[in-house]
Amino acid sequence: MNQSFTWRCPSNIALVKYWGKKNGQIPCNASVSMTLQNAFSEVSLELAEKKTSGIELQYFFDNEENRSFGQRVLDFVERNATHFPVVNQHALIFHSTNSFPHSTGIASSASAFGAIALSLLTASGENNPDFFRRASFLSRLGSGSACRSMYGGYALWGAVPEHPASNDAYAIPVANVHENFSSILDAILIVDRSPKKVSSSRGHAMMAGHPYATTRFDQANRHCDRMLQVLATGDWEEFIRIIEQEALALHAMMMTSGEAYLLMKPGTIHAIEKIRNFRKDTGISVCFTLDAGPNVHVLYPSADEVRVHAFLTKELGDSIEGIIYDKTGKGPEQIL
Ligand code: PMV
Repeated sequence: MNQSFTWRCPSNIALVKYWGKKNGQIPCNASVSMTLQNAFSEVSLELAEKKTSGIELQYFFDNEENRSFGQRVLDFVERNATHFPVVNQHALIFHSTNSFPHSTGIASSASAFGAIALSLLTASGENNPDFFRRASFLSRLGSGSACRSMYGGYALWGAVPEHPASNDAYAIPVANVHENFSSILDAILIVDRSPKKVSSSRGHAMMAGHPYATTRFDQANRHCDRMLQVLATGDWEEFIRIIEQEALALHAMMMTSGEAYLLMKPGTIHAIEKIRNFRKDTGISVCFTLDAGPNVHVLYPSADEVRVHAFLTKELGDSIEGIIYDKTGKGPEQIL
């Protein structure tokens, strides 16, 4: 029997957005995310006998070989072989699945690269106290936002002057979280499943030379510092202000970049307006954020679950393609 190592790694949703990067997957600004619970990738790394002297790797997704993603993983493994001694000793066979459907805008490369880095580290025999920090550092080299998926709750990635432990090379967990935010809910409204016309990598690249880049990076760094205070004090009002401004700032960058593109759909705007009206009418702390796509993440306190679900189903159910219910997650888990 070949030995195998399996990790389940969650996706995460950015509250303060990372948009724009420098060489080596270094972010142009800091970001803060919430780790999800139900949206995860599960990756099993099987170690087989090596037949050649080079790195041997196969990548299966849902039991079918995925050569293009396999090539991306091979590039990642080749570039980082010194960190993963196992890659020179065995042939690597990855089997991966996602808990969430394809094309929902949930960052599958974040959860997949998270689980890939974790399984490679475990297979290489690492289990030191720095394990998750190492996994964060290495997964970042595969997919930037993956580095924030290594911890439960909330994570900060990128250097913020007010927080000496923060840095660009890996994410750190946010330690001080008020009970108001220790477990909140995220309903992901699937507005449109069609593949995006402009990839995130192209979007990041367009921040180089973007007319508003400097202002945007400053804004995001200030928002990170403020968000850490908000998470510590439990201030929902300020949380809402920041995350909605962040979501719209991200899309404003797309709309004002060289290609001036638009990823929001009419259904996105419709959902945003309904959410804001519902908040005004009921006083419930419900708010939205967006990824680089048309789908809407609706965040709200668990205490308001029943009323928010009734609202989403009644007011938005007919205009969207589906809802995925998620919440603040506990972080990666090794499956033994
Ligand atoms: O990690 P990437 O390269 O897929 O970029 C993620 C970018 C956003 O999801 C839009 C924002 C973020 O911080 O996750």
